[in-house]
Amino acid sequence: MRAAEIRLPEDFKTPCYYYDLQFLDETLEAINKFSRYPNFHVHYALKANCNDKVLERIAAKGLGADCVSGNEVKKAIETGFGAGKVTFAGVGKSDEEIRYALQQQIFAFNVESLEELEVIDGLAEEMNVIANVAIRINPNVDAKTHHYITTGLDENKFGISSYDMPDVLAVLKRSAHLNFVGIHFHVGSQILDLSVFKSLCVRVNEWKSWFEDRGFFLKVINVGGGLGINYHQPDGDIPDFETYFRIFNDFIERRAGQEIHFELGRAVVGQCAALITKVLYIKKGIKKNFAVVDAGMTELMRPALYQAFHKIEKLNDHSSLVLPYDIVGPICESSDVFGKEVELPILKRNDYLLIRSAGAYGEVMASNYNLRELQYFYYR
Ligand code: LLP
Repeated sequence: MRAAEIRLPEDFKTPCYYYDLQFLDETLEAINKFSRYPNFHVHYALKANCNDKVLERIAAKGLGADCVSGNEVKKAIETGFGAGKVTFAGVGKSDEEIRYALQQQIFAFNVESLEELEVIDGLAEEMNVIANVAIRINPNVDAKTHHYITTGLDENKFGISSYDMPDVLAVLKRSAHLNFVGIHFHVGSQILDLSVFKSLCVRVNEWKSWFEDRGFFLKVINVGGGLGINYHQPDGDIPDFETYFRIFNDFIERRAGQEIHFELGRAVVGQCAALITKVLYIKKGIKKNFAVVDAGMTELMRPALYQAFHKIEKLNDHSSLVLPYDIVGPICESSDVFGKEVELPILKRNDYLLIRSAGAYGEVMASNYNLRELQYFYYR
């Protein structure tokens, strides 16, 4: 989104999420334009944002869905992503969720452990259906990002390690109810150093050969998501999809008919929303000025949880006379801080602030802590 294009009703209420669906469309158009290589399929990772209006826009532009719970699978189907374009990942799929996804005949399960593979096999046999499965491999590639959102290292809980792979092959070979479609990787999130994706391609090629040497053809190579956004300059930021998709086209050695699948979340929705909050009180501390605002970690948890940076701006005020403020929420937790020493035009009670780049992992991670309720949404 672009701050200059924000249109709010006169009587808008806060805290609210403001979604710029037109900007989301622009982002989706860039994705479709730059992913136009043969057999490229982009799925949207619903975990980043499950707002119905957002999902409908994304489905309408033809993306598939990457889900991590039975409810996400259900939501994807309800909002227009065809079941045939849904993947289902996650280390802890329950039997009930697996049964539901089997009933819906989704595109593929991304399987995260040997035991899970055996359970899916058993449930598919019970239901007399065939389960499409991709094996999630832990590629041991360092995503060079925050340690909470790095997933592709041996020490992380995600994916199947190389030690288990012979047993996995044995299950795939003997099962009549598993259709092995390919392999899946995901190295982490908010990746800005694109060389990480080149390293991933090297691993993908190694694993592809490993499977081929053992007589398995891989139809699907799913490289996960992780492309980052610019939290420091969010205005009009559309990630560099051109370079991103080109890397996979150039560096993965593909056979005819082999498909590359992507699962992007943040890069799709991150910049299409802002959290808008009202200044409740200005408190002059001994060393600092605090602006206490009406949004808190209950509406946007990323700063409290990961010390994540989100740009904060005063709505419709660009004066050059600024003061440093600590922007804090109303929740009874010391970590309920959106930013420290943020230089902003002079603030007073009832001024409005924008907390930018809140489209990904914002609304979806909101909670009711302190019995709060996120109620207000505006769309353009
Ligand atoms: N695929 C898999 C298997 C994933 O685990 C994730 C994200 C994605 C795709 C989408 O990644 P993205 O393109 O959005 O980077 N709550 C954290 C981020 C957690 C990411 C979890 N996995 C945050 O607020 O930064």
